[in-house]
Amino acid sequence: MKLNEAQLKQLQDEGWLFLPDYFSQEEVDILKRESDRLFTLKRDEIYLEKDGTPRSAFAVHRYSAIFDALGRHPRLVEPLMQMYGEGVYLHQYKINAKAKFTGDVWQWHQDYGNWMEKDGMPEPKAMNISVFLDEVFPFNGPLMLIPKSHKHGVLESNKDSATTSFPLYTQPEETVERLCEEGGLMAPTGKPGSMLIFNGNLVHGSSGNITPFPRKIVYLSLNACSNYIRKPTREEWLAHQDFAPIEMVADDAILQFRDEAAA
Ligand code: SIN
Ligand code: MN
Repeated sequence: MKLNEAQLKQLQDEGWLFLPDYFSQEEVDILKRESDRLFTLKRDEIYLEKDGTPRSAFAVHRYSAIFDALGRHPRLVEPLMQMYGEGVYLHQYKINAKAKFTGDVWQWHQDYGNWMEKDGMPEPKAMNISVFLDEVFPFNGPLMLIPKSHKHGVLESNKDSATTSFPLYTQPEETVERLCEEGGLMAPTGKPGSMLIFNGNLVHGSSGNITPFPRKIVYLSLNACSNYIRKPTREEWLAHQDFAPIEMVADDAILQFRDEAAA
């Protein structure tokens, strides 16, 4: 799947692009069922909320054939190859659960600032691409984005790394205030199967979920192969080191797991 001129321009100017209903209901049912299974596992790559509810499952391609297929899916990989004009590899891969009632905040941050400082990624030639597994409403902790904030490059960040999640450099309140005055604030909402692409330098975060509606979103951070990380300092599941270009699967690859998911 290639992006058209208007979509490329939206990504360049605004730093994000939302594609509603991009995966079918049948595909999403397979992915969702598998994600529920993964969140019952006890693994180092699966992080918990303070009360023990699963929060994030990292590197899911390593222990799920279904999510391995999603990570190689042409509908995700091709737009990034098109933008960078070369092969891309998977820098980070996670499912963020944001559970009903207990799903906690993600502080304001830029991803590329973290990739640069913690992983030694040379250039902002990497982007996030995400797929909604649940319906994302305005009230169940949607991902919030500050449009155009990517144009400022890497912003000065708080260096204490203390967050509700794995350690991250976050953005000071004054910066968020200034950027919102400039670019506004938006939160893409929509049905399961919708897809969002956003620039690695776009400032983003999300609030807690006190509703009975979980908000599961899959995030892949794809990096241009020539931009491979030079100085990894984190656990391998937060910053992968397999720099070979992703080998894509067929467009109907998720549906091949239909029977397995129904079992
Ligand atoms: C992230 O920035 O990594 C995810 C934030 C969210 O899922 O709300
Ligand atoms: Mn992020």
